[in-house]
Parts: sequence; C-alpha cells; structure tokens
Amino acid sequence: MKLEENISLKAFNTFGVDAVAHSFVTISSIGQLEQVFSQLISPEIPFLVLGQGSNLLFTGDYKGVVIKNEIEGIDLVDEDDEHVYIKAGAGVNWHEFVLHCISHDWGGVENLSLIPGTIGAAPVQNIGAYGVELKDLLHSLRAWDVRKKKLVEFSNTDCAFGYRNSIFKQDLKGVVVIGEVIFRLTKKHTIKVGYGAIQDELAKQGISKPTIKDVSNAVIAIRSSKLPDPKLIGNAGSFFKNPVVTQEFFNHLNTCYPDVVAYPSGTVMKLAAGWLIEQAGWKGFHEGSVGCYDKQALVLVNLGGATGKEILHLAERIQASVKGKFDVELEMEVNVV
Ligand code: EPU
Repeated sequence: MKLEENISLKAFNTFGVDAVAHSFVTISSIGQLEQVFSQLISPEIPFLVLGQGSNLLFTGDYKGVVIKNEIEGIDLVDEDDEHVYIKAGAGVNWHEFVLHCISHDWGGVENLSLIPGTIGAAPVQNIGAYGVELKDLLHSLRAWDVRKKKLVEFSNTDCAFGYRNSIFKQDLKGVVVIGEVIFRLTKKHTIKVGYGAIQDELAKQGISKPTIKDVSNAVIAIRSSKLPDPKLIGNAGSFFKNPVVTQEFFNHLNTCYPDVVAYPSGTVMKLAAGWLIEQAGWKGFHEGSVGCYDKQALVLVNLGGATGKEILHLAERIQASVKGKFDVELEMEVNVV
C-alpha cells in the first residue's frame, strides 16, 4: 500500500473525464483503512473515496488523496428460515453482487440489476430502481470513522436513508469510509413487478410467473434499452433527482401541462425530471462533446473528450431552462467534485 502521485482519473470515473489526483492509494482490505488513515493521510488533507466513479463529476484536478476502494468478498454470514445475511466488501461491483445473489437464489436485489457502481457507494446515495431501494435490503454496515479513528457499525436506521440520500452524503460526508455492508435477503421471495415497464417487458417475453432471475433479466433489458453503457458513452446515470413538489403545486402545473408525468410520494408528488427536461427541449441535444441522451433526458453524456466543467455548464443551462419554463428546481444527483 503506497501513495502514488499525479494519477490520471480518466479511467476511474464513468463520465470518462480527464482529471488528475494529486495523491492516489488503493486499499484491498478493511484493515488497510486504518493503516491509510494512521500512516498515510494526515487529518488536514482532504480525501475522496472512489468506487467505480459512477456518480461523480470531476470539474478539475483533485488536490487531496483519492482512495480507491477495492475491498472484495461476498460471504453468507448468517441465516434463518426466511432470510440470509450476506456480507460484501465495499469494492465489490454492484451488478456482480446482484448476479451472485441471484445464482444462489437470494432474493431482493433483482430490481436493482445493472446499476453501475460498487457496494460501498450504494448506501451513500441509497441507490434505487423499479420500486426498490437499497434501504429495503441493507441490514448494517461497517465503516472507518476518521474522527473517532476506529471502525464503527451503522444499523439501517443509523444510515438515515432518504430518496438518493443518506447520512453519508449529509452530516458524515468526508467523515466515514464504508468498508463492508451486510444485506438481509430472502429465501422465500416477494416478486416486485408493480412498475409498468417491468410488467410490459415480462409480457413481451411471455412470462406470467416470474422468478427473481426473470425480473433481473427484465430490468437488464429495460436499462440496456434506455440508459447508455458507460463503457461506450461517458455518463453517470440520472444527473438530476426527480423533484418533489407539493400536491398544490402539482395541481397548478397539471392545469397548465395536462401531460406532466408525476407519481405520489407520501403526501407530496415526485415529478419525472426526464419529462421536464424533454419538454424544455433538451432531449437529444448536443453541443461540442457534451449532450443530453436521446433515449432518457435525465442522463447527460460525454460524447468524447468533454471536460467536467463543460458537463456542469450544460447541467446548469438545463436547470435554468427548467426553472424558467416550469418554476421547478432540479437538484443534481451526481456528486460534483
Ligand atoms: N420521461 C420522459 N422523457 C424522458 C425520460 C423520462 O418523458 O426523457 C418520463 C416518462 O413518462 C417515463 C417517466 O418519465 O415513463 C419515468 O422515466 P424512467 O422510468 O426512465 O424513470 P426516471 O424517473 O427517469 C428513475 C431513477 C432511475 C431508475 C428509474 C427506474 C432517479 C433520479 N432516477 O428514473 O435511476 O433507474 O427511475 O426506477 O430517481 C439513477 O439514479 O442513476 C437512475 C438511472
């Protein structure tokens, strides 16, 4: 384990943006977390933990230490009649974890198939898709606390999960580094196909009694058809969150725009940001090497050689235009560094 200097981050972020890390270190075990913080990084130096860089945008070089988390391992640690408890290292690729679970007939993660990123990044933004969020599956996690200088355990409640949000993005941002996560998965499965897109895909495939494997395959098919593969086109999935508005504001919007797409979320309404961006005329837009994806307007793309600043500039233009047309603020989901 050693600090390397001036390392290009281009291969370490799914936007494929070129930026340089002043210092860079790779860790491959939970024990090395302690070593990194006691021996290599002094408290005043900023650090950034990288999984697969699938939810961040570098707008310039990183002046601190980038810690590449490559803690591996997937193990069954406990079970009862209904559940298995699976421990996974923070560096495990999320989709490989999903496929591993499905091959062992451990259920719950199937709706989250093909989400880019790692186990360690998943709790930070409470990844979610097709009616399931990570918070529904996470039992607990262990992380290094740089203030307490020790490993600490977080229960599901301690993580304070919200929509694409958690304590790790808020109060504990830059304070803890996730080392491993324990999931509580099912032996007797509850198939969640409430989402219209999954039902349509299963019907298309002639499947009426889907298994968790069928649901995973359906989600893979849907995602592959709508979302660009970061290996081919630089992107970070949804760039913005779906904005939450009051029922009253929604009613007003609905009067002006009867086609507005929204879903009830508790007592408020969640607007489909993709719809707002498309209506504002951005879907399929490209200028130079940045663009707004033509099959899902919520995704910004690097068409080759874009800088983080150029992508951020497009994001800000989209925000301003959606605000101007609908009076709705779009909040970025991607972590801008
Ligand atoms: N829509 C449009 N135009 C577009 C895109 C979407 O009109 O260009 C409308 C359509 O009516 C569509 C609806 O918006 O039916 C919803 O679109 P979609 O099912 O693609 O879902 P989303 O709300 O845009 C969210 C998540 C995705 C997740 C999907 C499926 C957020 C920010 N994004 O997208 O997560 O995969 O639901 O559950 O919540 C991610 O976070 O990176 C991500 C991809």
